[in-house]
Amino acid sequence: MDLNLASLLPRRPAFPTLSLACTAVGAYLLGHIVYNLFFHPLRKYPGPFLCRISKLPWDYWQLTGNLQREVFRAHRKYGDAVRIAPNELSFASPKAWEEIFAYNRNKQQWPRNPKRVPRGRGNKAPMSLVNTPPHEHARFRRVLSYAFSEKGLQEQEALITGYVDLFVDRMTELARKGEVAELTRWYSMLGFDIISDLGWHEPFHCVESRQEHSWIRTLAWTAFDSQLKIVFRERGLLFLAPWFVPMRLQKARITNFMHARKRIEERIRHPEPRGDFWDKVLIKGRGDTESPGEGLTHEEMVVTAVTLVGTGSETISTLLSGVTYFLGRNRSCMDAFVKEIRAAFSSPAEITMLSTHRLQYVQACMEETMRLYPPVIGLLWRVPPQGGGTVGDKFIPEGTTVNINMFAMFQNPAHFHRPHDFLPERWLPNAPAEFAQDRKAAFRPFSVGTMNCLGQNLANAEARLILAKMFWHLDLKVDGKTSADWLDQKSWTVYEKKPLYIKFTEVVR
Ligand code: HEM
Repeated sequence: MDLNLASLLPRRPAFPTLSLACTAVGAYLLGHIVYNLFFHPLRKYPGPFLCRISKLPWDYWQLTGNLQREVFRAHRKYGDAVRIAPNELSFASPKAWEEIFAYNRNKQQWPRNPKRVPRGRGNKAPMSLVNTPPHEHARFRRVLSYAFSEKGLQEQEALITGYVDLFVDRMTELARKGEVAELTRWYSMLGFDIISDLGWHEPFHCVESRQEHSWIRTLAWTAFDSQLKIVFRERGLLFLAPWFVPMRLQKARITNFMHARKRIEERIRHPEPRGDFWDKVLIKGRGDTESPGEGLTHEEMVVTAVTLVGTGSETISTLLSGVTYFLGRNRSCMDAFVKEIRAAFSSPAEITMLSTHRLQYVQACMEETMRLYPPVIGLLWRVPPQGGGTVGDKFIPEGTTVNINMFAMFQNPAHFHRPHDFLPERWLPNAPAEFAQDRKAAFRPFSVGTMNCLGQNLANAEARLILAKMFWHLDLKVDGKTSADWLDQKSWTVYEKKPLYIKFTEVVR
């Protein structure tokens, strides 16, 4: 018999180095998991098992636009402080507003997480409001404070009112023709017309031309692009982003920036006041990047213009779409809402930013909308100051990212009675007794502290003006084509809003 001895010997693995590498990676991953579960400083915080051992669930939720909803689910199961990734905590208790966000002269500030609001390329890239270190941030806020003050708003009112009146005319035309309006699109066009004129010195005339300007998409894509890139940046894999983030999103960011530059340079060439954001901003020369003093340099102004238009357009249209949706679904609230507006004014000329201040029920509907459908849910990432910080009696080490989940905070049964129902009366000065235990301090849709929303006066005044004018002239109904789960929307800081179909009828007086 011909015996081949070699065939009886155990086979040597084809790639010994490969199996060695696999073992090493396996051991590393196992060590990582064991560390995250049993030795990590955040090990005592509850959270979904997969989130405690790995950031993959976070990445997946962020990429699919479901992060805030999934974290809300986790809060419902695990409570007010949840570990949503190995190094990340989400909070849903009012204490977190006080201890992380609110200004306290005896405590160091918790800055925004620089990886989530990165500066442009390189250390010399101009800073914007949202990504400056705290001492620089104060300068930006000082410079822009006038534009967002009550007085500044009054100076912008004529410009804003012109767009609102035209918008109401357009809706009236649709009412007369018996056509259904896709209102999220119209609100978005209106919000964009106003903010681009205030911030970019460029009216896009979307409402006038009845056409969505390509910039609206471009701007939304800029938000998606920056949110998707967070996932890559935090893993040190930003160089891979061009292969995974759709090219149109990346191009949109650059085009958006170039466009803002062109517009702002035009505004600098025409420095005379025109009732926009820049009337009182001291603009310094191009070479002043190192010492901008109390003004903004050209470059800072360009970046700031992008930020202001980005933050001030979709937010308003989200709030308006939300109010319209909730009123359309709640007959008695709609009746009370229109009754207040129509009783307050005998002619449209009386409806101004100042006079709409007294519309308590309208304001209550806006608050209740923001409680159930908060317009901004993704800018609140903070990191503890040097040396770490505390929330409640718990120490949070440096390197941790913290966040407030607005859904969990605002729809927490411990904070609000009947938390999932649309009940605007809870916000009225003489609210029914059943809401006496509501913890209003939990409700901060514009955030608190030195980095809170700069545009909140504008947002409130603009939304009240639009709603009051529209409902003075028109009645509306949600059309049956609107999705029954309209509120279930993906979000990358801005929501991907589902169409809201509305049928208007003109009020006969
Ligand atoms: C209903 C509408 C709005 C809501 C709910 C809202 C909410 C917010 C929130 C939660 C933040 C993050 C604050 C933080 O990190 O602590 C923010 C930031 C900001 N918002 Fe708004 N916003 C709205 C409309 C506007 C409008 C109309 C503008 C006008 C331009 C605006 C401008 C800004 C700016 C510039 C920031 C960054 C502030 C800073 O870093 O100092 N927002 N907003």
